[in-house]
Amino acid sequence: MTELIITKPDDMHLHLRDGEMLKAVIHHTANQFSRAIVMPNLSDPVTTSEKAQNYFDQIKSFCPNFSPLMTIYFSDQLNNEELLKIRDSSIIFGIKLYPSGVTTNSERGVNSIEDCFHIFEGMEKIDIPLLIHGEVNDTDVDIFDREKVFIDRYLEKITKQFPNLRVVFEHISTKDAVEFVIDGSENLAATITPQHIMMNRNHFLSGGIKPHNYCLPVLKRSSHQKSVLAAALSGNPKFFLGTDSAPHLKNQKESACGCAGVYSAPYAMPMYAQIFDQNNALEKLEPFASFYGADFYKLPRNSAKLKLIKEKTQVYQSIKINNQEVIPYLAGCELDWQIVSN
Ligand code: NCD
Ligand code: ZN
Repeated sequence: MTELIITKPDDMHLHLRDGEMLKAVIHHTANQFSRAIVMPNLSDPVTTSEKAQNYFDQIKSFCPNFSPLMTIYFSDQLNNEELLKIRDSSIIFGIKLYPSGVTTNSERGVNSIEDCFHIFEGMEKIDIPLLIHGEVNDTDVDIFDREKVFIDRYLEKITKQFPNLRVVFEHISTKDAVEFVIDGSENLAATITPQHIMMNRNHFLSGGIKPHNYCLPVLKRSSHQKSVLAAALSGNPKFFLGTDSAPHLKNQKESACGCAGVYSAPYAMPMYAQIFDQNNALEKLEPFASFYGADFYKLPRNSAKLKLIKEKTQVYQSIKINNQEVIPYLAGCELDWQIVSN
């Protein structure tokens, strides 16, 4: 196959930032995706429906034809009145829980998950999806084990106690997460990034450290990569596309204490197409990218189309933002597929 026309996809996990960065990156996503679940971890987190509305307006002002699906940053301050406002909002689609300190801008995340169970109960009652960064923040736990420990300590309890709560286990990186999601109810789903299926920790740590392949959850050993890849290719509707594209300035990635996040948005669909193609599973790309996420979020599937062709393209070396740069994921590499802009 050398040409692929699919229903326009949705990116179910995206970091757009705000201000100049937002302005510079938004069109990369909008060129390929109709909608995206927009993460709320701005430096001033999106903790209320008012803040979500302001952020939505800002995104729309830069890109009127794109549909941002807003999320709220989980805090233990969420009360029933705020939950109802969130449920009744036409622009908000979930609440994102970050254990405090696990990732970029998560300082204001949750310290004690046990203390949040009454909020999960409220969300379950009125059917607001809970989006989870599933890693423990316990510095005693090895960074490669933090996802598994999160499942054992918290996710099992949450899904058992709130069977009707829709939960998205974000950017899964381990076989443990894949198995947990497969075994769970239909209210449990997971997003899968390009980097967790294209790479393992050798791509990050072997032959010199590669800061642009550093993200959280950190890349794992290849047996985990294979398992996450198999989940993406499986056609199981619990697994859908979420790039976790997360731009950071070059100097903040190439630093003695570099930021976590991979900027995959500019070539996201060519990357997924390449990996599905290499695994003879191109027919599974459309449901993974365009159906399962929308279905889980109870959104109508898009009617617009996206065309890809099998022609070599080279990923930009860098993207300029004022006088600074952002280095995209796989910068300078050749990909087999490209988008045909309409
Ligand atoms: C994300 C970011 O930079 O906002 N970073 C990352 O490594 N994935 C946050 C997140 O999703 O963990
Ligand atoms: Zn993320």
